[in-house]
Amino acid sequence: MAHYLVTGVAGFIGSHVAERLIEGGNSVRGIDCFTNYYARSLKEKNLSGLLENPAFVFDELDLSRADLSSALEGADAVCHLAAQAGVRASWGRNFGTYLDCNIAATQRLLEACKERPLTRFVYASSSSVYGDTDDLPMREPGATCPVSPYGVTKLAAEHLAVLYHRNYGLPTVSLRFFTVYGPRQRPDMAFRRFISETLAGRAIEIYGDGEQTRDFTFIDDIVDGVLRALGNGSPGEVFNLGGGSRVTLNEALDTLERVMGMRIERHYGTPQKGDVRDTLADNSKARNELGFAPLVGLEEGLAHEFEWLRSL
Ligand code: UGA
Repeated sequence: MAHYLVTGVAGFIGSHVAERLIEGGNSVRGIDCFTNYYARSLKEKNLSGLLENPAFVFDELDLSRADLSSALEGADAVCHLAAQAGVRASWGRNFGTYLDCNIAATQRLLEACKERPLTRFVYASSSSVYGDTDDLPMREPGATCPVSPYGVTKLAAEHLAVLYHRNYGLPTVSLRFFTVYGPRQRPDMAFRRFISETLAGRAIEIYGDGEQTRDFTFIDDIVDGVLRALGNGSPGEVFNLGGGSRVTLNEALDTLERVMGMRIERHYGTPQKGDVRDTLADNSKARNELGFAPLVGLEEGLAHEFEWLRSL
């Protein structure tokens, strides 16, 4: 049994990771500052099961301001999932929040961790660090040229994680998540919007022609990758975690219609600044070093997300 600090624990991925750690017999201290990117009530709902568990302690705490020493007390490893999410919202005045939450907060946490005997510091990075490329699948040593301010901040924090490994021996590992979906998905993300709007009898908006492609990754596979990275993989390294297949948004919508047994009314709008055209992960490094092997295909994963949203 180990004790973990999980940041961003009230979020989509953080709440699932904390639950799985506790199911494995570990204890977790979770922290979150409830940024206003989406409703606090939704994040509180994500936390509700955890709060009943005696192996879980919650602190409402802002990584970019608070003293972090008590939160780190007794931690064997850190899972840093807190971030200001969303590629399309990261322009303009919002950028200050992305700087604070994604870069400054990560640097403060790394500083607070650097002299501690942690076995691992896992940082949640993003496929958005790659940007637009014809060189698919995306491989970790390939070029990184983000097309969103969000992607720039996620890449900067990846570099910080490497620096703290090289200079202080902190055993950091960065994981590049590829468009994660499933129960508790954020309300701004595509599938959650598409399912909710269709259930409400409304049309959905597709940004662009729907021929953009994504390597969608089911939440359970991401959690499995995070847990594996807590115990495997060379420190200072970066790993892709992708679902293993690439579909166009139009194809994904056809699958979703089958899963829901409903017609989705599609309206095509303008492409959004900050969106990459295509993503596809080369998972071979994660497979070889972490033992990562995504199991859940798109149809099955969408069925889980649909069931969850219908039950709300
Ligand atoms: C997602 C997350 O939101 C990011 O936080 C994360 O860093 C990124 O994945 C990643 O892979 O690292 P995104 O791929 O944009 O970003 O995920 P979705 O919001 O699910 O969008 C998927 C596609 O659907 C995008 O092409 C988007 O433009 C499109 N979309 C989304 C629509 O056409 N309409 C919508 O209402 C929402």
